[in-house]
Amino acid sequence: MFEKIKLAPADPILGLNEAFKAETRDNKINLGVGVYKDDLGATPILKCVKKAEALMLEQQQTKGYLGIDGHGAYREAVQTLLFGSDHPVLAQGRSRCIQAPGGTGALRIAGEFIKDNLGDKKVWISNPSWANHHQIFAAAGLTTAEYRYYDAANRSIDFAGMLADLDKLSSDDVVVLHGCCHNPTGIDPTLEQWQQLAASAKARGWLPLFDFAYQGFATDVDADAAGLRHFAAEVPELLIANSFSKNFGLYNERIGAMTIVAASSDAAECALSQAKRAARANYSNPPAHGAEVVATILADAELKALWLQELAQMRDRIKLMRTALVDGLASAGIDFDFGFIQQQNGMFSFSGLNPEQVAKLREQHGIYIVGSGRINVAGITSDNLPHLIAAIKAVW
Ligand code: LMR
Repeated sequence: MFEKIKLAPADPILGLNEAFKAETRDNKINLGVGVYKDDLGATPILKCVKKAEALMLEQQQTKGYLGIDGHGAYREAVQTLLFGSDHPVLAQGRSRCIQAPGGTGALRIAGEFIKDNLGDKKVWISNPSWANHHQIFAAAGLTTAEYRYYDAANRSIDFAGMLADLDKLSSDDVVVLHGCCHNPTGIDPTLEQWQQLAASAKARGWLPLFDFAYQGFATDVDADAAGLRHFAAEVPELLIANSFSKNFGLYNERIGAMTIVAASSDAAECALSQAKRAARANYSNPPAHGAEVVATILADAELKALWLQELAQMRDRIKLMRTALVDGLASAGIDFDFGFIQQQNGMFSFSGLNPEQVAKLREQHGIYIVGSGRINVAGITSDNLPHLIAAIKAVW
């Protein structure tokens, strides 16, 4: 049977890691997958994580299964981090959270939850978006479509186009919104624009699904949640898929969550029970380690303060690299204003490099970026910056 199976194409993002490993040039640079690197090019374990793990090693009593919905203290902590401690949704007991294997796992549970309980909704994804969005929802049996998001000419959000597209939708539709640090453009709605989007959801009845993978990478954990918190205050129902891969550096622990907000506590409880069925049929119950690390840190004032400090350091270094890249490109004499790179949020920059230039960067200079021209700014270091600037100058 298997001889008929064709080789699958490499994943547009994770496939770059494999190609990069096989690259033999010494000055190769990997700016593909969204992983934070320090100025030495390493992805270190955060100090707060190491400290939490030391405590866990001492205190942990069992490796017994978690419940299908995961670690209890973790799920509580996630909701406080998402909504802030005094949000009406929490006071009204209208949210429930299920631990998930990373943000991807959370999105897949959301997709299956929608398909199994709400029927054939169409899932609307920004154009452009994270390459994996379409296939996650397709794998859950849902159809996807795209709404306008990026204004390429002005390198800004096409907010009028976005709103016009979403204003045509109805309760047959689900809209995936990037909570902050839009992947791949790095361009987010303003608070006023979030308010208009929430008004559209409220008036038209479409279901918002927040993908929230970079909380803390734009401004800080609270400011970055402003759009989400406004939505949660305005609409009766929404879903959130969040991830701690980036902001806790827990990439390989696969730790995230899917949070459901419903119109009442009872409705939220029923919805959670259905999300648990999706989890049980996929992987039974989640792994404990990442959840316990996050819960330990968020429950301890000192560890939490250390985490926020380390998160700020990551955020600040990326901003520094944005400035260094823009200044470096200007000093190299390229006749083009790259200043927009400094306005973008999060790890990524939508550089404006076209597919031909991306291919040349890889073939002629050993620099790996995603085909859309997305650069992982968090992978730029003082050491590799000169080679990157020279290479961009050569292909521009
Ligand atoms: C990315 O966009 O690079 C990250 O979210 C990692 C991934 O899984 O694609």
